[in-house]
Amino acid sequence: MNRSLYPASCPPIVHIPTCIVMVGLPARGKTYVSRKLTRYLNWIGVNTKVFNLGEYRRKIAGAHCKHSFFDPNNTDGMSVREKCAELALEDITKWLNDIGQVAIFDATNTTRARRKKVTTHLKENGFKEFFVESICDDDEIIQSNIVEVKVNSPDYQGVNPEEACQDFLSRISHYKKFYEPISLEHDHNLPFLKVIDGGKRFFMNRVEGYLQSRVVYYIMNLHITPRAIYLSRHGESFMNQEGRIGGDSDLSPNGVEYSKVLGKFVKDEMPADLKVWISEKKRTKQTAKYIERPIEQWKAVNEIDAGVCEGMTYEEIQEKFPDAFARRDEDKFHYRYARGESYEDLVARLEPVIMELERQHNVLVICHQAVARCLLAYFLDHNSEELPYLRVPLHTVIKLTPVAYGCRVEKFDLHVPAVNTHREKPKNVSVNRSAEDALVTVPEHN
Ligand code: ATP
Ligand code: F6P
Repeated sequence: MNRSLYPASCPPIVHIPTCIVMVGLPARGKTYVSRKLTRYLNWIGVNTKVFNLGEYRRKIAGAHCKHSFFDPNNTDGMSVREKCAELALEDITKWLNDIGQVAIFDATNTTRARRKKVTTHLKENGFKEFFVESICDDDEIIQSNIVEVKVNSPDYQGVNPEEACQDFLSRISHYKKFYEPISLEHDHNLPFLKVIDGGKRFFMNRVEGYLQSRVVYYIMNLHITPRAIYLSRHGESFMNQEGRIGGDSDLSPNGVEYSKVLGKFVKDEMPADLKVWISEKKRTKQTAKYIERPIEQWKAVNEIDAGVCEGMTYEEIQEKFPDAFARRDEDKFHYRYARGESYEDLVARLEPVIMELERQHNVLVICHQAVARCLLAYFLDHNSEELPYLRVPLHTVIKLTPVAYGCRVEKFDLHVPAVNTHREKPKNVSVNRSAEDALVTVPEHN
């Protein structure tokens, strides 16, 4: 059974399939946290899936359930909800018995009776459990969650926003009648993390093992203050013009022009509190030259290390190492350059960068093609096959704004000419292919 997405070179993060069980009243960010955590765990190579009980309910009871459906005295409503929970647990079991490593059970799970059922089921099946409860009594946060996210949910399609908002508040009050938060008195044996008031405080109990501590650390780094993350590659370098990979060359005249235009773009379009992160390479430092904001150098955002191929063109790699070139095309994410890195290695190197980006507010990262692909894959939920082929053209700023459960992407082409450095996966990835087949997708260069 192959649980891990990247079994070959990653240490196992998950030894026993684990279910992360969300707990909390409606509009407490359970789905938000579930989806982000899933994106993060998949990105670091842990095969993870969310099971959202709302989706089961909509399938069984239809999309438009009024607040009265959630009234604990509504016996029909209660029996549909219990049925949905059973179906979700069955699917979680199938997933964890198949290729899944982590399942996230995204439901309110607000009563001890329900949590007991979940725990018993998971134990019977030999799975581990970890509870994440979101408690929030900050009315401003709840109101904003309802207005920003809930009134746009499939539950309220075609319903006027004010009516939707009122109905959702009534739904919450039904849940409040029978909510039993996790407590040390009753649940001292449970491993759990409580997130209080959108991450202002935390409480944890019996956190065990590597996966759980990673989950706790990740959730503790999240914040919900609006902000934007900007990504840009460095300006065009002389080596880009020659089609050479890696190295530490200076910017070409086009690249210098981009650095000037970028300086103005930052001044005109980016927030005043922006921080700028660059790599250790000259080309990112030169690209930041006209930016009047604090600049920090991160070794972790250096370009993928192409090892023995550093400084070569794709044509030269094909000529010198045709087998390796074909193996890279066959599985670009896992292929590790001799004495260099793979994209998989790069993801591991960038993990602290992602963690810090989650903690920060407005940041512009000036980096490199492969690094930008890894960062984009995290924010936009691309899998390991898509990741090494994401298009990140030179002289383009990508703006990522967190919205609802994902990110809005805007691309700003700053209209400074540059070479194309994107090589598509060729059709023929066999080691027996001709040089012509191997080079068919190499972009033009000097
Ligand atoms: P429901 O039970 O109705 O599915 P939910 O608890 O899953 O509700 P979400 O749909 O995830 O709630 O709510 C999304 C909103 O929650 C987002 O606007 C996000 O900013 C906010 N949010 C994220 N984390 C938290 C948190 N820890 N506490 C409160 N709000 C949060
Ligand atoms: O060509 C520019 C560059 O940033 C190289 O330094 C790097 O090796 C390459 O892109 C990464 O792209 P790919 O993985 O598609 O070769």
